Amino acid sequence: MAKIKNNFNDLGPKKWLPFQKSFTIFDTTESLIEENINFFIKLSSSPKPCIKGMGSPYFIEYFESYTEEMNLNNPDCSDSLDFLALDLTNITNSNKTTLEIICKQALKLNYRKFLWILLPTEKMGEDGFPTTWKISNQLSGFLTRKDEKIICLPNGKTMTSLYFRKDEFSKLKHFKENLNISSVRLKTSIPNWFILKPKPRSKEEILHPAKYPEELVRMYVKEFTNKEDTIFDPMSGTGTTQVESLIMGRQAYGIELSKLFHGIATKRCDEISTSQKHSIFLGDARNISNFDIPPIDYIITSPPYWDMLNMKGAEVQANRKAKGLQTNYSDNIKDLGNLDDYNEFLNVLIEIYKETTKKLKSNSHFTIIVKNIKKKGNHYPLAFDLTERLNKFLKLKHIGFWCQNDLQISPYGYKHTWVSNTFHHYCLTFIKI
Ligand SMILES: C[S@@+](CC[C@H](N)C(=O)[O-])C[C@H]1O[C@@H](n2cnc3c(N)ncnc32)[C@H](O)[C@@H]1O
Repeated sequence: MAKIKNNFNDLGPKKWLPFQKSFTIFDTTESLIEENINFFIKLSSSPKPCIKGMGSPYFIEYFESYTEEMNLNNPDCSDSLDFLALDLTNITNSNKTTLEIICKQALKLNYRKFLWILLPTEKMGEDGFPTTWKISNQLSGFLTRKDEKIICLPNGKTMTSLYFRKDEFSKLKHFKENLNISSVRLKTSIPNWFILKPKPRSKEEILHPAKYPEELVRMYVKEFTNKEDTIFDPMSGTGTTQVESLIMGRQAYGIELSKLFHGIATKRCDEISTSQKHSIFLGDARNISNFDIPPIDYIITSPPYWDMLNMKGAEVQANRKAKGLQTNYSDNIKDLGNLDDYNEFLNVLIEIYKETTKKLKSNSHFTIIVKNIKKKGNHYPLAFDLTERLNKFLKLKHIGFWCQNDLQISPYGYKHTWVSNTFHHYCLTFIKI
């Protein structure tokens, strides 16, 4: 690794790299606090950095005792913070005032310094939109939304760490809206986070740059369908949805735009010995109403993650290129992965999902596997944006995280700033009511 002076913190690569993973298996609150202070503060700097922890008495107590242990106390700097940590794990409706206090405190952050907020992922607002995401969206109006990290708890639940930075252009305004948090439980027997160990991909499957594992489909199909039900995927890729559905005795339909992947998907389905009906249509999912698709019992799908595969320089892309493998889905202009305007991409995707929902039976489920996206230093919360728009005709029922633990970590931003490696996918399950 090149010899660059570490101006960001005092960590060597052995500790820097693991922090860059966008999910963490929870150990103790104490270790979480220590990890974050050590990452976002240069302990050895002079004058001493000024840091502050707010939230539950336990959080504050440990935050302050660690600050003392590390000899970080700097009583002279209450108006110029170098790090602000906020524990909102016990958030309730009355926390609106807390949020106003946070905003006031966040304004005291020095430029380029971070705010860390710890929140429960599963708390919902009365509007059916997760409170954590709402806070993330609202704060992004006046601080720079930098990143997020999923904290995987041993009891199967998750918390979300949100990270914001105060920049020169940050608009200093106050948090206005009421939160109206309700304690609706998102109930299914699917865990809220999981790590899968997929079997190695075949020669043909590897041609596809972003296939999801059969093990993931199996888990969801088992939860949301019965034998002989009809399962559909409007963007089938190599046919993972259909292959696993057929093996499980379900009927399987789909659409795929790329001739290459359509061929692979169809061949994989034809090789399965089953009496169940199946068909994958070659074409554009925008035209779903033109295809002969029976009423659907369950949809599981994953869209292109906007135009991320067209981004040059991404590590995975470089590795694929070196092996002579295709790095994007296609050069077809109808391919959603080739739309470079985020809002246009979102509009088209929502329209496809809206048309697809018309074919879904009432009280049936729709699961979307998707990531929030970071591009050129900006954060595009695709999972949140999709949910907000889909909430008009579907209801969010469950948030799961598929955490990929088998990927190589890249040292993005090493010694300069924090950029995580996004290894978690949102698995959003909606119900049609
Ligand atoms: C994330 S991949 C799906 C991978 C699939 N779940 C699998 O496991 O193989 C998204 C797929 O959407 C397809 N796609 C992109 N635009 C499309 C469109 N307008 N209509 C149908 N499929 C499209 C791409 O060719 C790609 O195979």
